[in-house]
Amino acid sequence: SLETNVKGYDYGKTAKPSPITLKELELLKATVLFSPTDEENLRKAGGVLIEQADAIMDIWYELIGSHPHLLIYFSKNNMANLEYLTAVRKRFIQWVKDVCLRPFDQAWLNYQHEIALRHHSIKKNKTDEIEAAPIVHYRYIIAFIYPITATIKPLLANKGHAPEEVEAMHQAWFKAIVLTVTLLAYPYVRTGEF
Ligand code: HEM
Repeated sequence: SLETNVKGYDYGKTAKPSPITLKELELLKATVLFSPTDEENLRKAGGVLIEQADAIMDIWYELIGSHPHLLIYFSKNNMANLEYLTAVRKRFIQWVKDVCLRPFDQAWLNYQHEIALRHHSIKKNKTDEIEAAPIVHYRYIIAFIYPITATIKPLLANKGHAPEEVEAMHQAWFKAIVLTVTLLAYPYVRTGEF
């Protein structure tokens, strides 16, 4: 089930709607060549990835933890905030489920915008009421497309699917990540230039 009581996970109850319209979302989907087949493959990927969610998070957190220039975003005075890392980890798992299983509709769009605000100075640190770096610099969000895509492939192969099925699920995941990271750019781009 997608129902959850993860602290600070506000899917379906964001204060503000996304500034991006469903029409614009459709054009973005067309731009990343996202098809109904990709949607099916994302559902299938969900079936493979969700039970491995902790393994996924271990890989991504190891990546962040081993790069001080990334860990700084979860830190204050160079001290990583474990409470913050733990709280965000739960919402990140939720997001993996959402990417795979939710329809990309208005509620999905709204929550991607909320996630964007939470990386930007507009809302970073507010959800967990902690002190840490005031913004995640957008360059690292774009750069993170690579590891978040590459590290998923071996996990997609863990449940006995044929290589071409793994490849199809991986392509669908890659498109969904590019779509998400595009939406995360909104608060970082000057008004009217997104
Ligand atoms: C939070 C996704 C890149 C740092 C989150 C959350 C998601 C997410 C889903 C939880 C949102 C929620 O509260 O429900 C992504 C995606 C990325 C990306 C898709 C790129 C592919 C990065 C990078 C960093 C980073 C490179 C830098 C280390 C953070 C921080 C939070 C967060 C600090 C907590 C923000 C807060 O204070 O609420 N991210 N992220 N993210 N992410 Fe990212």
